[in-house]
Amino acid sequence: MITLPAQKTFLKKIAVCCLIVLSSTFINKVYAATKVADLKCEYLIDPLGIDALHPRLSWVMDDTRQGAAQTAYQVFAGTDSVAVSKGIANSWQTAKIASDLSRVLYQGKALQPFTKYYWKVLSWDNAGKSTSSAIASFETGMMDKTNWKGTWISDSRNINFKPAPYFRDVFTAAKKIRSARAYIAVAGLYELYINGQKIGNHRLDPMYTRFDRRTLYVTYNVTAQLQSGKNAIGVLLGNGWYNHQSTAVWDFHKAPWRGRPAFCMDLRITYEDGTTETITSGKNWKTSLGPVIFNSIYTAEHYDARLEQPGWNTTNFIDTAWKEITNRSAPSANIVSQAMQPIRNVEKIPAASVKKIDEKTYLFDLGRNISGVSQITVSGEAGTIIRLKHAEKLDKNGRADQSNIDIHYRPTDDKDPFQTDIFILSGKGEESFMPKFNYKGFQYVEVSSTTPISLSKESLTGYFMHSDVSPVGAVSSSNNTINKIWWAANNSYLSNFFGYPTDCPQREKNGWTGDAHIASETGLYNFDGITIYEKWMADHRDEQQPNGVLPSIVPSDGWGYEWGNGPDWTSTIAIIPWNLYLFYGDNKPLADNYDNIKRYVDHINDLYPTGLTTWGLGDWVPVKSVTPVELTSSAYYYADASILAKAARILNKTGEAAKYDALALKIKDAINAKYLDRTTGMYDKGYQTELSVPLFWGIVPEDMKTKVAANLAQRVKEDNYHLDTGILGAKAILSALSDNGYPEVAYAIASQETFPSWGWWIVNGATTLYENWDIQAKSDLSLNHIMFGEIGAWMYKGIGGIKPDPQSPGFKNVILEPHFMDKLDHFESAHVGPYGKISSSWQKKDGVIEYSVIIPSNSTATLSFKNTGSKKVYQGGKLLNVVNGLHLISGSYTYVVK
Ligand code: BGC
Repeated sequence: MITLPAQKTFLKKIAVCCLIVLSSTFINKVYAATKVADLKCEYLIDPLGIDALHPRLSWVMDDTRQGAAQTAYQVFAGTDSVAVSKGIANSWQTAKIASDLSRVLYQGKALQPFTKYYWKVLSWDNAGKSTSSAIASFETGMMDKTNWKGTWISDSRNINFKPAPYFRDVFTAAKKIRSARAYIAVAGLYELYINGQKIGNHRLDPMYTRFDRRTLYVTYNVTAQLQSGKNAIGVLLGNGWYNHQSTAVWDFHKAPWRGRPAFCMDLRITYEDGTTETITSGKNWKTSLGPVIFNSIYTAEHYDARLEQPGWNTTNFIDTAWKEITNRSAPSANIVSQAMQPIRNVEKIPAASVKKIDEKTYLFDLGRNISGVSQITVSGEAGTIIRLKHAEKLDKNGRADQSNIDIHYRPTDDKDPFQTDIFILSGKGEESFMPKFNYKGFQYVEVSSTTPISLSKESLTGYFMHSDVSPVGAVSSSNNTINKIWWAANNSYLSNFFGYPTDCPQREKNGWTGDAHIASETGLYNFDGITIYEKWMADHRDEQQPNGVLPSIVPSDGWGYEWGNGPDWTSTIAIIPWNLYLFYGDNKPLADNYDNIKRYVDHINDLYPTGLTTWGLGDWVPVKSVTPVELTSSAYYYADASILAKAARILNKTGEAAKYDALALKIKDAINAKYLDRTTGMYDKGYQTELSVPLFWGIVPEDMKTKVAANLAQRVKEDNYHLDTGILGAKAILSALSDNGYPEVAYAIASQETFPSWGWWIVNGATTLYENWDIQAKSDLSLNHIMFGEIGAWMYKGIGGIKPDPQSPGFKNVILEPHFMDKLDHFESAHVGPYGKISSSWQKKDGVIEYSVIIPSNSTATLSFKNTGSKKVYQGGKLLNVVNGLHLISGSYTYVVK
């Protein structure tokens, strides 16, 4: 089976738990000790730099006993870890609270900045026995902008100047150091060094925001890198999205926030004697230029190794040639902690092959398409210019071909070639280069040199970069194409996750809203991405116009307020908070965005009082049939109004709930009045998208569902079980079929291997999902788009049948509706939700299905057998009555279906 390496351990765990399932009777007899584990603050493990006044604290009760559930909890939080471990807490100590909640808001004494809080939880099980967690911690950051002491500084160059600025400062730590933290806020990108050592393994920090409205700072524990006596700090700044020098159609070079990169840093040292001292960015710092002679987040990086200044970030370096810095104003008044998983070089991808084209040219193939960078190791004469051209495909002569990805680039000269790093050798033996401030989408790297060079397969390595979110899902089946589609969907999802979701890692790197809400379920089944989405929703709030309008890309420089931003795309404002609510059971995303959703929905209502809207792009990149934009856009408008009504109810805004229920009903009625033929059960012309979208979004009247679903199944049959949709239809069609009685039809489409289908890409060698069904298309053919990625979520929903329950979200109750597909002999799916691992898998032998389920402690499930036909369900040899479904308490179960 094919898996992401990071998922391998996870899959191993699944394999282990499948063994456990088979011996579940054994498990039930043996006492399995409860563990209270996975303590997180704001969804992060022992985070630093928390600015929330009431951070969310969560834990997982890990107990494999059947029916194990939490009956009470008690939280202890304080600044003394020893005291907290003994149950004495000076910041917050709840009473023993009778509750099954496993996520609470900190409600103790006001949190102080720069303070480490230790916490633990006692959890009582249903036998009344309490178990303590281990001690976890969180540390507050600045908490208030008035706590910053440093000055924003830069060099004196202008925005068009190419080389990256380096900064250094030397200071003396007079006493013995107990601990130290670096707080660094940056307009642009940075690398931080102390005494020559790079701090942390983040890449492309800080994450992209609208810099003029919200700027992120990052916190590091730098105790280990500091010493008593003299210390040197070095900072290197990159442009990122702050100073976009490359010119492309979206005008980021004209962004209102644009400026020469700048930073502000406080290095806060606590000495052994308890005193503190803060070393700050300011006038005593010095600046110089160095080997990074050009850097663009969009295109590439150019590095002249002859300009390296060895030791520039150490104390002994002689910096008399370095210049004075310039004080700058802060990019925004809103400097906020980056409390989220960072981007990292997550996976190392050795080159799969190399081909020597001539003495000066080599073509490397990673064997798979990724987002990230390549690193080359080479030796040659000083001044040799090496170019590394990154591409997703090859032309007919076997050379790197960028024609599918450079089309929106508008270079003004030949100095900034697309996705092409330039490395100028110092001539000092073997030297390596990997860009610091850029990433690309690629599978191939064509390396060319101005003088003959000798390279081998080992000379180049790829690094798959993305927001380093933990895998929380796994799928594996007896159909290898399905397995590969799942893997490819995850590859494209991660390739498009860089602190905000993007459309593609090469041509655009834009935060296209539509692509992101379509992919959000696929993402949430597979990865623990809430911190990235919460940050991105804050980006939405920064961008929203007073009248509710959102741009089609977020963040935006202003582009996209007038194109592509109808409800079919910018419904992110409602759909993403709603999906976070379903997957995490957390109200906060709905509460944080409630007013924004409302303004958005009200605005559409003002513009389109009939309930029908034509605002939108429609079923983008279709196969052939074209669905009216009004039908799909109004469906998204309906989804927004219904989410708003549900959010109002959840947040106890009863009056508004009724108001938006009524609006949702008006929209639904308007769609059905215009598009549904009640006698035939057809929407409009009866194309796949036209029937799927109303079914998926709950627009079809209850009494018409059977007819509409039957029409859809018939339509698919007539289309020879192939897709005839663009992205909005591809989002809807699989669930529209499997939720309405046609799981096998959905599976036929999902496992199809001829054009047009996901499998068609796979049999043609895809390792990521594409932008176009037609792999020969003349336009819209990035090979790493996630907008057709819903199939990754559908494998959990439509085959494994693992679904969140809106009445009991966060998988507190799991809806389990497995579909034992005729053509699958074996299927496993597992998702780790807030209560732990849910697993739904089966194995067929001689026509008998053995179905295994795991429901984590402190949660329940409602299990329905939907497509078992005349087959009967047995448990432990006993025939079960499954007509009304089964209500399961936590534990492991095995059923025989025959
Ligand atoms: C992007 C898409 C996006 C679309 C909107 C394209 O250029 O790559 O994924 O959703 O534009 O029209």
